[in-house]
Amino acid sequence: MSTGGRGDASFTGSIAEIYGSLMVPMIFEEPARILADVVAGAGGVDVLETAAGTGVLTRMLAEAGRFEIVATDLNAPMLEAAAERVRSERVRWQVADAQDLPFPDQSFDVVVCQFGVMFLPDKIRGYSEALRVLRPGGLLAFNVWDRVENNAVADVITRALCAATPDHPLEFVKRTPHGYFDIDRITGELAAAGFERTTGEYIWGTSRTTAETGATAFCRGTPLRGEIERHPTLDLPSATAIAAAGLRDRYGSEPFEAPTRWLQLTAHRPV
Ligand SMILES: C[S@@+](CC[C@H](N)C(=O)[O-])C[C@H]1O[C@@H](n2cnc3c(N)ncnc32)[C@H](O)[C@@H]1O
Repeated sequence: MSTGGRGDASFTGSIAEIYGSLMVPMIFEEPARILADVVAGAGGVDVLETAAGTGVLTRMLAEAGRFEIVATDLNAPMLEAAAERVRSERVRWQVADAQDLPFPDQSFDVVVCQFGVMFLPDKIRGYSEALRVLRPGGLLAFNVWDRVENNAVADVITRALCAATPDHPLEFVKRTPHGYFDIDRITGELAAAGFERTTGEYIWGTSRTTAETGATAFCRGTPLRGEIERHPTLDLPSATAIAAAGLRDRYGSEPFEAPTRWLQLTAHRPV
């Protein structure tokens, strides 16, 4: 299996707009609401969001009305799409790698990250950076997708694409967004970075989409797009059609609901 390299974090070009308009309504709003509630229960006002993407969680944090938020992401096109969607004086946008944060020590009360940690090549380095910028007692709150088999739309699309291309399987979805979900590994890596009082909870949710929208969202609005564009035998129209056919075979042509599952975690910087 390929490791994907930097391409797996490449939310660039038109991916950003399609991600914001199709992926987010399908599967990202429900976990964002639950993660925003965790942050709302925390003390302090200074919040750093890493891997903020197109701002679905940022908007909810801004709406809480009591946080000053620095929202960061590796990819400028994602933050440009976010700034179009979230117009709030409470938010400052800044391009930043979560593994190398351009902020002083102990400058935030909360660090929060929705579905971004899986993309970090060095997770412990990312956790160490979060710890460094947190004030003593500060909260790290984040989530990661569970295994692909527990996330039906992603699973059906991955199976359809891999069945069509057994010699060159398109495994981005399984490899990266759904490749980091073992609670023992994650809590061990948090401890290695210096965090304590870690909690973790798997949560079931619901995605709502159609076969065409789900296929377009994954094939054109995620880094799977780059993997398809580099593929020796498929192109974007054929891959999107294969993914849509897989979803239609399972769910039909009408709007449908399908299960999602993710792991939500919290950890604290020691006082
Ligand atoms: C699945 S998206 C999640 C975006 C957003 N949090 C949401 O819930 O919609 C993953 C995000 O991680 C960002 N990302 C990838 N590698 C990163 C890194 N090293 N540092 C910061 N952000 C990164 C991508 O640009 C992308 O916006």
